[in-house]
Amino acid sequence: MVTGSLIRPKEQFLDSKNKSSISCCILGAGAIGMIFAVYLKRIGMKVYVIHHRNMAKTMFEIQICDSDLSGNYSFEIAAPENIEETDFILVTTKATEVLNALEGIKDFLNNRSDVVILSNGMGFHEKAQETYGSARIFAATTTEAAHISQPGIINHSATGRTVIGGISSKRSPNWLPIWLNAIPESSWTQDIKTALWEKLSINCVINPLTASHECRNGELIENPALKELVKDLCLEIEMVSNAAKIPHAKEPLFDIVSQVIFDTAANFSSMLQDVKAGRTTEIESITGYLVETAALFKVDVPMNNKLLKQLQDTRFSPN
Ligand code: PAF
Repeated sequence: MVTGSLIRPKEQFLDSKNKSSISCCILGAGAIGMIFAVYLKRIGMKVYVIHHRNMAKTMFEIQICDSDLSGNYSFEIAAPENIEETDFILVTTKATEVLNALEGIKDFLNNRSDVVILSNGMGFHEKAQETYGSARIFAATTTEAAHISQPGIINHSATGRTVIGGISSKRSPNWLPIWLNAIPESSWTQDIKTALWEKLSINCVINPLTASHECRNGELIENPALKELVKDLCLEIEMVSNAAKIPHAKEPLFDIVSQVIFDTAANFSSMLQDVKAGRTTEIESITGYLVETAALFKVDVPMNNKLLKQLQDTRFSPN
């Protein structure tokens, strides 16, 4: 993974606070959001869940399986003052929901708010920074994999690597050492956009192909016809990265994507899960962003255009 220059402070802790007085609010209590919530909680941080739909609830309960995090956990629902005073807000909604979710808490954001957006796709980080100019926006990308197998039960299918960096400012936040300590295999980068682009490139291949062929990730390599599509799509995406002069890893995108497919072979991609459940997919923030970038640099991307159109038109009914 391309991560730019990495700084990983080892045993630094904040001067004025200890871990138990550092707090975080999770906005988007889905599978990945709750895995991160548990990582942060297990080092002693106070972690709240922002929950709009049922404010009568005071606790948010989950169970994690298939993981060294396996167990039952409960989190306090954040009160407005918890959101205002928290050290950082971690947004883990779907790409399509990031801006709406932030709109929902805008009254509690102020010039001391730090917001970390950990969602697939690109384009919305800058919009969030423009809209909530007084808050500092950070972006993170991860290869952790998890899904909700039943309401309240999360399967943690793979541990991964996480990269975090600033959107408008290159200065790292003072809570960074705590984050790096809590989140396994995590690093800070001065160039988060390159890391986001690499994840976007992977998602542009795996997500629409698995969604349109209704297959597990592994079939993209096991089925020779699909493997050819993966190869061609990777070449198309590399043409865009080159035209846009986005720094990229030395190995071909096909090798990087093949490794992710291999690591997540048994999984159904998040896009296929959305399609099957009749939910809006993240296609606009993934392939849509790539197609817009290609247009800006006058690169033809017929395969991506076709997949974008196909997924925009796809409407499955929930099972
Ligand atoms: O969106 C997803 O499902 C995941 O980001 C990935 C890497 C494609 C693996 O399934």
